[in-house]
Amino acid sequence: MDSSPGRILIVDDERIACRFFEEVLAKEGYATQSVQTGEEALRQAGEFPPDLILLDAMMPVMSGFDVVAALKADERTRRIPVVMVTALEDQASRLRALGSGAEEFLNKPVHRLELLMRVKNLLKLKRYQDALAEESGQYRETAARRSDQLQAVNLRLDELQSQLLQSEKLASIGQLAAGVAHEINNPIGFVSSNVNTLRGYVDKFVEALHVYAEAEPAMSDEWRDRLHTLRERIDLDYLIQDVRQLINESQDGIARVRKIVQDLKDFSRADQQQQREFADLHHCLESTLTIATNEIKYKADVVREYGDIPSVECVPSLLNQVFLNMLVNAAQAIKGDVRGRITIRTGCDAHDAWVEIADTGSGIGAEDLKRIFEPFYTTKPPGIGTGLGLSVSYGIVKQHGGHIDVSSVVGEGTTMRIVLPRVQPAAAN
Ligand SMILES: Nc1ncnc2c1ncn2[C@@H]1O[C@H](COP(=O)(O)OP(=O)(O)OP(=O)(O)O)[C@@H](O)[C@H]1O
Ligand SMILES: [Mg+2]
Repeated sequence: MDSSPGRILIVDDERIACRFFEEVLAKEGYATQSVQTGEEALRQAGEFPPDLILLDAMMPVMSGFDVVAALKADERTRRIPVVMVTALEDQASRLRALGSGAEEFLNKPVHRLELLMRVKNLLKLKRYQDALAEESGQYRETAARRSDQLQAVNLRLDELQSQLLQSEKLASIGQLAAGVAHEINNPIGFVSSNVNTLRGYVDKFVEALHVYAEAEPAMSDEWRDRLHTLRERIDLDYLIQDVRQLINESQDGIARVRKIVQDLKDFSRADQQQQREFADLHHCLESTLTIATNEIKYKADVVREYGDIPSVECVPSLLNQVFLNMLVNAAQAIKGDVRGRITIRTGCDAHDAWVEIADTGSGIGAEDLKRIFEPFYTTKPPGIGTGLGLSVSYGIVKQHGGHIDVSSVVGEGTTMRIVLPRVQPAAAN
């Protein structure tokens, strides 16, 4: 704290009065400065606010009352205590002095001790007020900071809550999907086996029909005619050809349902039986690229930006599915005649390894982005997408203790980043 008891601005048009105040105050250690006009007083007070102002009421041009009013109207000088010095004895003038905003008043001729007492008390009061003001300023600042922090925490909470909701939603849909998959598995199993048997029976029927046809020349005219009419009526040759096609299509359909069922199971909990091992992710990516070649080669060039990554503890066959889904999605997002690019990047830090699959495709709009991991969410025409690729991938990556980050710009492309812990936590094994 300042060792000087205070700095006082003396305002009086009479130099003699100024000198008197200076002397009395300087003896007590106060720093003083004197000015002779109200305008000068306002200028000084605004630029170098003193701790107290001793102000003569009766001055030419600008009276002390006007000066106080101006001081109290200015934010910079509002809190400086003012002692009004007046030669006016009457009650009305005293009241005017106080009413104008001055904290104290003194009658001329000023008594030395009275002056010092009033100055001392006012300065003490001002110190308290200043301390209070500073404290409340700090308090306001802290409160504002806290409220900013609170707002940030709230935002983060909202974010976490929606992430939680999303993963809970996916988990419960996953359970539902697993239940449905289980229910479908049995009937599709016997339908599949029956269709296989049916194919065998049909082959035998057709064989028998051929033998009957060969026997036709040996038949009577009447039977031959009947058989001929029947064959024409039911279009037997077409039936024989079509029944095989129907069976083929049914078998395709069954295979597709089987794949969906398998995908649903993978999504809910990728097969628990599979063993984890330390695998080379570049190797996984390469073997998956081979499978995806047909999807990619007419549409995009593949650019590899592989980093130096160690083996990662995982179930490689499952990760291959993830990579396949992402590569196929990337290729499908590249539309039109312009050849696109799919860039595969890898890298790691001390804890995680990551794989990025970036395409120069159509990108994903904000509304779609919220839903792409939901099972059956697809923007592709029927027959092209079932909407399970990413939901399955999500389940697999989550099962590995990792996560998928997506960034996308509509019209520019999408980057999927798969982050996987290099080593699985012991409890997860
Ligand atoms: N790289 C990408 N670029 C643009 N859109 C994408 C990309 N990857 C996914 N999407 C969007 O997310 C949706 C869901 O993807 P997901 O792989 O789950 O299903 P799908 O590709 O539509 O069908 P499926 O993979 O089952 O054949 C897609 O329909 C597409 O709209
Ligand atoms: Mg897909």
